[in-house]
Amino acid sequence: MSETMISRRKFVAWVTGGIGAIMSAVVGLPAIAYLIGPSLRKQETGGWQPLGPLSQVQASTEPVSFTLSHVIEAGWRRTVKKETIYVQQLPDGELLAHSNICTHLSCIAHWQAEEQRFFCPCHDGVYDRMGNVVSGPPPRPLDRYQVKVEDGQIWVGERYRVYG
Ligand code: FES
Repeated sequence: MSETMISRRKFVAWVTGGIGAIMSAVVGLPAIAYLIGPSLRKQETGGWQPLGPLSQVQASTEPVSFTLSHVIEAGWRRTVKKETIYVQQLPDGELLAHSNICTHLSCIAHWQAEEQRFFCPCHDGVYDRMGNVVSGPPPRPLDRYQVKVEDGQIWVGERYRVYG
């Protein structure tokens, strides 16, 4: 009698344990994937992004400002950082796109049409129309963006440094 009772107990224990393991896997694996998934994701979404219509730049003799949104994913946190990008058409028809973040201590430089310059008020940094340093503490020109036009739309790609 006791041998049969032990066998039944063992059988029930095995079946219960097996069902428990399967249920744990069914519930647990997606939960683990959900928890660690974001940490495996790329940190910043990049690539080419649309900026605005080319006609807006062609209609102006001044650099035109557009707003670019950077989506940054760090773990489970997703933030959108906005940046102003100035675009102008050069005499040879090429487009020049650059950031307005000062290369000294990252304040914001503004276009001053009357002076034909970009001015950073934090420490009086001055850049010319092309973003080259004229005076003040900035160590290098304003950063530029890869730029292209498709179907009348301006797109910007990677940001890069310029040393001049
Ligand atoms: S942060 Fe722009 S000049 Fe210092």
